[in-house]
Amino acid sequence: MKNILFIGGTGYIGGPILSRFLERDDSNLNISALVRSPEKADKLRSLNARLNIISGSHNDAELVEKIVSDADVVFSLADCDDLQAAESILRGLKKRFGVTGIKPVLIHMSGTGCLGDRAKGEFSSETIYNDLDIAQIETLPATQAHRNVDLAIVEADTQEYTDTYIVLPGIVYGTPHGILADAGVQNLTNLALTGYIKASFDRRAAGIVGKGKNLISHVDVTEVADLVETLYNSVVEGADRAPEHGRNGYYFVAHGDVEFEKVTEVVETRAGTRRVFTDTELKTYFPNPGLQGFFGDNGRCDSQRSRALGWKPVKTTEDFLVSVRDEVEQWKV
Ligand SMILES: NC(=O)c1ccc[n+]([C@@H]2O[C@H](COP(=O)([O-])OP(=O)(O)OC[C@H]3O[C@@H](n4cnc5c(N)ncnc54)[C@H](OP(=O)(O)O)[C@@H]3O)[C@@H](O)[C@H]2O)c1
Repeated sequence: MKNILFIGGTGYIGGPILSRFLERDDSNLNISALVRSPEKADKLRSLNARLNIISGSHNDAELVEKIVSDADVVFSLADCDDLQAAESILRGLKKRFGVTGIKPVLIHMSGTGCLGDRAKGEFSSETIYNDLDIAQIETLPATQAHRNVDLAIVEADTQEYTDTYIVLPGIVYGTPHGILADAGVQNLTNLALTGYIKASFDRRAAGIVGKGKNLISHVDVTEVADLVETLYNSVVEGADRAPEHGRNGYYFVAHGDVEFEKVTEVVETRAGTRRVFTDTELKTYFPNPGLQGFFGDNGRCDSQRSRALGWKPVKTTEDFLVSVRDEVEQWKV
């Protein structure tokens, strides 16, 4: 029996991933999820009897350490900037290894926000980060978004008590599918993209940073779930075909990039003619510091390691812009 634990399984990204595992015809899987909302916990209980719900927050260090120490595989999908939560997970994994002598697996959702170059929308960068080029990734200082957490995770792998895999999507878009989405249990909108659209409608002017020349990577939410499932399958099939982990275990998940101005052009058709975000507005609309620079940063990547696993994204930049248009058209003014 394999114990797998989801933290953040009711999120925009986590929902389709948890749905797939609940739909798997695998009696050897014992699936648990940490759920902070009592309403979502109740709905999930009635949705799927196989799922073991643990109520609580990932900020409850004792609880997280305990439930992780019971798991063989942990999906950490909640908050890639919460170092304290990540450290609780790592302590639990260490405990698990101490008891079983078998390295548990951590699959952690980070993001390409760590590639940000402070372009402030002024230029399109030619730098493309490649997940096979570890030396290039290691040039990113710990002060970059998400990076302190990613480095703590890599260090845990180096200490050899866990195998760690870090998944880094570009901006995620599209409608999530699966049993959680159908039952209305998961978040259906995206923190970053919907946050940007909402901010634009609230200020009655599409937001832009500088000239909006920066290039952002994007990926469809279903294709993120495809990668995570492919990665998990490769990990459990293991042996000599086990994917790289730890220092080498970075997996970009993006399929193309687009000048941010193109997103602004779509949003201004309904939210109002573009107006540059002031620094104060960025702080007000995006309290998460990881997002404040994001809309003006270049963050280009090449998902070669992910593709080498067999990941085959098909959605394009055109699909991304259509998805933005669809969301903007549904927005009530
Ligand atoms: N969306 C993107 O474009 C994107 C791109 C790259 C990276 N990322 C990163 O990927 C991660 C997930 O993003 P998302 O868009 O799926 O976010 P989301 O929709 O806000 O989902 C976050 C998930 O974590 C849970 N959660 C949050 N705080 C918690 C707490 N204190 N205790 C227990 N559970 C908690 C949420 O529970 P509830 O269901 O109760 O809300 C939800 O299940 C984030 O770290 C984000 O920065 C996102």
